[in-house]
Amino acid sequence: MQVLSVTPEIFPLIKTGGLADVTGALPVALAGKGVTMRTLVPGYPQVMDAFKKKKPVHHYPLLQGGKASVHAVQIAGLDLFVLDAPHLFHRPGGPYGNATGADWPDNWRRFAALSQVGGDIAGGAVSGYQPDIVHAHDWQSAMTLAYMRYGKAVGTPSMITVHNLAFQGQFGAGIFGELGLPAAAMALDGVEYYGGVGFLKAGLQAAWAITTVSPTYAQEIRSPEFGMGLDGLINMRSVDLYGIVNGIDTEIWNPETDKHLVSNYTAKTLKARHPNRTAVEDRFNLDRDDSPIVCVISRLTWQKGMDILAAVVDGIVARGARLAILGSGDAGLEGAMLAAAARHRGRIGVVVGYDEALSHTMQGGCDAIVIPSRFEPCGLTQLYGLRYGCVPVVARTGGLADTIIDANEAAVSAGVATGFQFAPADAGALLHAIRRLVAAHANPTVWTSMQRQGMKADVSWDKSAEKYLELYRLLHSKRAV
Ligand code: ADP
Ligand code: GLC
Repeated sequence: MQVLSVTPEIFPLIKTGGLADVTGALPVALAGKGVTMRTLVPGYPQVMDAFKKKKPVHHYPLLQGGKASVHAVQIAGLDLFVLDAPHLFHRPGGPYGNATGADWPDNWRRFAALSQVGGDIAGGAVSGYQPDIVHAHDWQSAMTLAYMRYGKAVGTPSMITVHNLAFQGQFGAGIFGELGLPAAAMALDGVEYYGGVGFLKAGLQAAWAITTVSPTYAQEIRSPEFGMGLDGLINMRSVDLYGIVNGIDTEIWNPETDKHLVSNYTAKTLKARHPNRTAVEDRFNLDRDDSPIVCVISRLTWQKGMDILAAVVDGIVARGARLAILGSGDAGLEGAMLAAAARHRGRIGVVVGYDEALSHTMQGGCDAIVIPSRFEPCGLTQLYGLRYGCVPVVARTGGLADTIIDANEAAVSAGVATGFQFAPADAGALLHAIRRLVAAHANPTVWTSMQRQGMKADVSWDKSAEKYLELYRLLHSKRAV
C-alpha cells in the first residue's frame, strides 16, 4: 500500500516538537508492515541542504507567488517529496517564524501551497506515483484534504491526524480568493470558519477519517473544555474519529546504545545511570547528593502547565527534590524559571533553549520527569522517560493518562506502577504528587521496581502502526465500494 504523508515537520530534518518525531518514525514503523509511506515536506533550508538537487518530478511556473518544483529524494532513510519553493520556504529561523519566534505573516500562503501540492500529487501530478491513501498532519497540511475534495483526487481516501487542536490555522476571509479553490468551498461544510477560513477545520470536514494521538484526547476533544471551538464539528464526525496513541523510535531512544549518554545501561544495570546523573548535576550546577532530580524537557507554555510548575518550585525544593529544567517558549515563563534557579542555587538549574542531545542525557540521568500539562494530545517525553527509567510524574489528561500507570497502593503491590498521575492540573495536586515521588524515591525497592516496570512497557510503534494500517485498510476498502 502506498501512503502519501503531508507534514510541516519531520525528524531528523526539521523539528519543533513531537509532530516531527511522529512523522519521522511512522514511515519506518509501517515499512515492515507492507506500507510504503512517502512524505511531502516543505523545502526549508535545513531540508534543501540535506540533498543534492536532481531533476524535479514536477514543476510549477507559479505557485503562490513564485516558481516551485517538487523533488523526489531519499534522506536519512525517508522517502520524501520536497517542495522547493524558495519564495515561501527558503528563510532563516524556524519553520513557522523568524529567529525571534514571530510567525511569518504569510504562513497561510506557505501552508496552502504545501497543501495544494499534496492535493496535486494525490491527483496524479507526479507521473508513475499514485497514493492509495493521503495522510495529513495538523493545520499546516490539513488543506491538502480540501484541495483533494474540490479537485482531481476527490475519490482518494484521506485522513488527518490532529496532534494539537489548539493550533488551527484561522485566517481572514480575504485570503480565500487566493487559495485557488472553487467558490463553493467557502461554505459551512467547506473551509469557512466563523466568517474566515479555517485550515484545520477544512481538513476535519473533508477527511474520510480523523485520528488523534491518544484515545483519551479523542474523547476529550468532543467536550467544550478541550474542543477549542471545534467540538461541535468533531462530535458530528465522531463515527470517523479514532484515537491511536503515539509510539517512539526505540532505536534512537535506547539507553543501551544512546551516544548522548555518558554511560549506557539497561534495566538490569540501573546503577550505570549514575555517571549520567553526575553529568546533569554538573551541567545544571546542582549540588551533588542523593535527593531525586526531577527534570523538565518542554516548551515553556500554558498548555504544558509551566506556570503551575513555576508557582510551586519553592515547595518542590522544600520537599527535598532538585529540578533540572530544559526548555524555551514564553518569555515570562523563561524568566520565572531563571528567577527560581537564582533563588535556589544548587537545587534548581535551568537551561533556556532547545538541545536534543542534552534532552537524552537528562532522560538517562534524572530520576523523574514532570509533565503538568493542562491538556496533552499524547506527549512523548513521558514515553522517553519510561524507556530510560526516568519516572514520569504527569497530569492525568490525554495521552499522559493513557500511558502511565499511577503508583497507587494496588498498582505498587501488584508491581505494575510506572509513574505518578495527578489531577486536576493545579499547584496543590502537583505538589502532592512530588511528595509521593520523594517518598517512593526514598524506598529503593519500590523505586527500582517502578523504573524497571517502565522500562518494560511497550512504547514502540509496533501496536500503533498496526492500528494505522487497519485504518488505512478500512478506508481503502471504502474506496472500492
Ligand atoms: P509537544 O510536541 O507538544 O511539544 P511532545 O511531548 O509530543 O510535546 O514532544 C516534544 C518533543 O520535543 C520531545 O521529543 C521532546 O524531547 C522535545 N523537546 C521539547 N523541548 C525541548 C528542548 N528544550 N530541548 C530538546 N528537546 C525538546
Ligand atoms: C503535539 C502534542 C503532543 C503530541 C505531539 C505528537 O505537539 O502537543 O501531545 O505528543 O503533537 O503527536
